[in-house]
Parts: sequence; structure tokens; C-alpha cells
Amino acid sequence: MRIIKKIDVMRKFSLAEKKKGRTIGFVPTMGFLHAGHLSLIKKAGKRNDIVVVSIFVNPAQFLPNEDFSAYPKDFRKDALICREESVDVLFYPGRKDIYPAGFSTYVEETSLSKSLCGGSRPGHFKGVTTVVAKLFNIVVPNTVYFGQKDAQQSYIIKRMVSDLNMPVEIKVAPIVREPDGLALSSRNKYLTKGQRAKACFIYKALKIAEKRVKKGERSSAKIKAAIRHVIEANLRGEIDYIDIVDTENLKPLKKLKRKVLMAVAVNVGKARLIDNIILKPGR
Ligand code: PAF
Repeated sequence: MRIIKKIDVMRKFSLAEKKKGRTIGFVPTMGFLHAGHLSLIKKAGKRNDIVVVSIFVNPAQFLPNEDFSAYPKDFRKDALICREESVDVLFYPGRKDIYPAGFSTYVEETSLSKSLCGGSRPGHFKGVTTVVAKLFNIVVPNTVYFGQKDAQQSYIIKRMVSDLNMPVEIKVAPIVREPDGLALSSRNKYLTKGQRAKACFIYKALKIAEKRVKKGERSSAKIKAAIRHVIEANLRGEIDYIDIVDTENLKPLKKLKRKVLMAVAVNVGKARLIDNIILKPGR
């Protein structure tokens, strides 16, 4: 496995591989890899000749009061994991490579990024789309793999790719969960033992809501109240949002119809935990 730190070296590598007719599967990450990332890397490996993983903790997607400097890091372990997974290139740029002095161009999606996490983290998705667009230009991938846990992120990136005619295919892989249902996240590391034991109630709440929808409930307010009840009864956390939105435009719905995204964000101690389920309730 090659570890490449420089942008021009990364681009040269990719363009040379593509010239040989090889396809490049790309998994962008912020490091501290877990089984969720591994599932993406494995998918990339199955369907591409070359697999590139990037590790870059992107300052532009953190708000001033967020955990940018505390974000968990373990480059050695990440590199070992990538090696074991037969990753071809680990792209590990520095902050000044990605954001050199004088950097002043951003990519912003202006509709899907307004609700859910975009509502409580203004500017977050502008940071995400900017770095992802840059990474696409540097890595020049054929296919890029994202996780369903960051559902809104993947909808926004798909929109960016379509709006800006970027020649890449986006694949979204299912959420990988702990045995008790907690969605894997690098931020789970912040949880104390007690918080960790209760964190699974976020997913349990979503599953209870899903059952109610399957039994015929279509009122968004009632379903959200059921989710809130389970979380508040079991978890000492501050609910950021519980929402049910249309998957076409990510706008909140009063009545469930077509395909919906049921999404939750809860601050538990130092960890901001997000989770979601996609449902097709029918009419
Ligand atoms: O999902 C993440 O880890 C990040 O948002 C991403 C896509 C690597 C951009 O920094």
C-alpha cells in the first residue's frame, strides 16, 4: 500500500491507472476507521481495480464550538487496517495542502442542506461539499462510497454531483451497527460506559416508530412523539432533532407518504449521535 501525502502525486497516480484502463473506487474518511468504513472499503475492492482511501479531518465542516481539535485520530491503526484490507493508496494530505493560504472558493448546495443537521450545524455541509469536490478532483475516482448513517450528506453529495456534472458514481452502503443496534461512528469513542449502554435506545426508538408506521400510523407528529418518548425515557441526552422528511427534497412531512427518511440527532455527553431509517410507508 502506498501512502501519498501530496496532491499532485495522488492525481498523477490516478490518471496513470485510468490510462491503463483501471477503475478507481474511493472511500473518503476522516480516519479513526471502524467496521462501517471497512464495509465501504470492501465494497470498493469488490467492484474496482484500485481502491483509494483518504484520511483528512476537514476543518471546514466543523463549527467553531465543535470537536475539530478533539476529533479522534489513530493514523497507525488506520494505516494497518487499510493494509489488511489491501487498499492500494492511502491518501493523507495535510491541512495546508487542502486549504493553502489564500483559499477562498467553496462549493455549496443550497436546498437539501437546510434541514436536519444543516439546520443545527449551519455551514457544515458547505465544508463537506467543498472538501469532497476537491477530493474528487484530486483522486479522480470512478465510484465513491459513503455510509447511510450520514444520510443527508449522501443526498447532498449526489445532488452536487448531478448539479455540477461531476463524472463520478456515488454508492451508499447500509449502516453498520453494534450488536445492540448503536450505529458505528468514530464519535462513539466519546461515550462513557453508562452513556454507551443507553445509546442503543436511539435505534430502538427508530425501530419502534418503524413498527407503528408498518401498522398504519401516518401522522408525523405522532411518530416523532413516540421516538421522543423512548429516547427521553432511556437516555440522558439533549435531542437536537427528530424529523421525518421526504427523501426527494429532505423537507419535513406532516403525513407520511412515498419514501421517507426518519432521522434523529442526540447530543449524549460529548458525542453528537445521529441515526436514521428509510421507510416506504405506502398510501
Ligand atoms: O463522512 C465523513 O467522514 C466526512 O464528512 C467526509 C465525507 C470524509 C468529508 O470530510
